[in-house]
Amino acid sequence: MKAIRIGEYGGPEVMELREMDRPVPRADEILVKVYASGINPVDLVVRSGSSAALNYDLTLPMTIGWETAGTVEELGSDVTEFQKGDAVYGVPSFPGDGSYAEYVVAKASRFGLKPKNIGFNDASGIPLVALTAWTAMFEFGKLKEGQRILIQGAAGNVGAYAVQFAKSKGAYVIATAAAESFDYLKEIGADEMIDYKSRKFEELVGVVDIVLEVSSVRDNDERLKSVKVLRENGILVSVNTDFAFNDAVLRALDRKNATGELAANQSRKEWLEEIAELVEAGKVKVLRAKMFALKDAVETHTLLENKSASGKLALQIIEEY
Ligand SMILES: NC(=O)c1ccc[n+]([C@@H]2O[C@H](COP(=O)([O-])OP(=O)(O)OC[C@H]3O[C@@H](n4cnc5c(N)ncnc54)[C@H](OP(=O)(O)O)[C@@H]3O)[C@@H](O)[C@H]2O)c1
Repeated sequence: MKAIRIGEYGGPEVMELREMDRPVPRADEILVKVYASGINPVDLVVRSGSSAALNYDLTLPMTIGWETAGTVEELGSDVTEFQKGDAVYGVPSFPGDGSYAEYVVAKASRFGLKPKNIGFNDASGIPLVALTAWTAMFEFGKLKEGQRILIQGAAGNVGAYAVQFAKSKGAYVIATAAAESFDYLKEIGADEMIDYKSRKFEELVGVVDIVLEVSSVRDNDERLKSVKVLRENGILVSVNTDFAFNDAVLRALDRKNATGELAANQSRKEWLEEIAELVEAGKVKVLRAKMFALKDAVETHTLLENKSASGKLALQIIEEY
């Protein structure tokens, strides 16, 4: 089978299209025939080797890509929840070979049935991004109906799912974003928008139960402002797990008996299927990805690194029928 492999860490050019053996699923795994693979910032971090913490777990050579949609091709001996041919989406095991490939193996528990009303291309861009929002808000943030949540970076890939999931839960959503994204945020359900470029959110939002940091910003002074708007016993959740809370943030949280959480995404079949239901019910709009061929993986990473692409990018391995 064909796969985009890296044999060393470095720039986009270290990714090469190679032939390799098709992987064989272990007892608790499925072999997925990949139709499309989403591309995420973490792919660039892995490829470049810039995170010592991630490198520690990884083994080269390896295949990049942790977000995919495809069909179940083979089942491990213990897997009962899927059948051959099922259309699925999910996050391949990490560490392990990823989804920029014709086939990928993954723990069956990390996949769910794909939303029926969308194709593989669109479904391939959902899992990692949407599960990041889901894990952060519901598993770590414990968001409940009627609560007020401030979403920092609401117009980004993760942020847009966060806004829609929070609304589907019945929360009141205050979103920070650039003003150009306000129409979009309104359309997907945000109740209030604050332009992070020209306004001071900490003077405008009042008190919130949860602050969700899904922006690309890594700045503990900004987090101090977020703690300022949290209620007593509130929760600050950041998905930027590579950037720890400093002592000042921890002390500020402590003074409010508030909690700070760094939330790494988790992939669970039941969450993927709840997300699929929301998509099928029209309660969550899916981000359309710009599609590239597998052989053009280098170009996609170059575009992202040069910041000359916006929105979601994905690789199409099999043309949709
Ligand atoms: N923990 C995990 O498992 C996990 C998984 C995936 C991603 N992540 C992290 O999640 C973050 C978001 O990822 P993504 O794919 O959604 O990225 P993205 O699409 O680039 O979104 C980032 C958003 O942050 C906004 N932003 C920049 N500065 C801001 C500020 N000062 N205040 C408010 N918003 C601001 C950007 O707005 P502009 O467009 O105006 O610049 C953009 O909309 C990244 O830091 C990524 O590393 C974590």
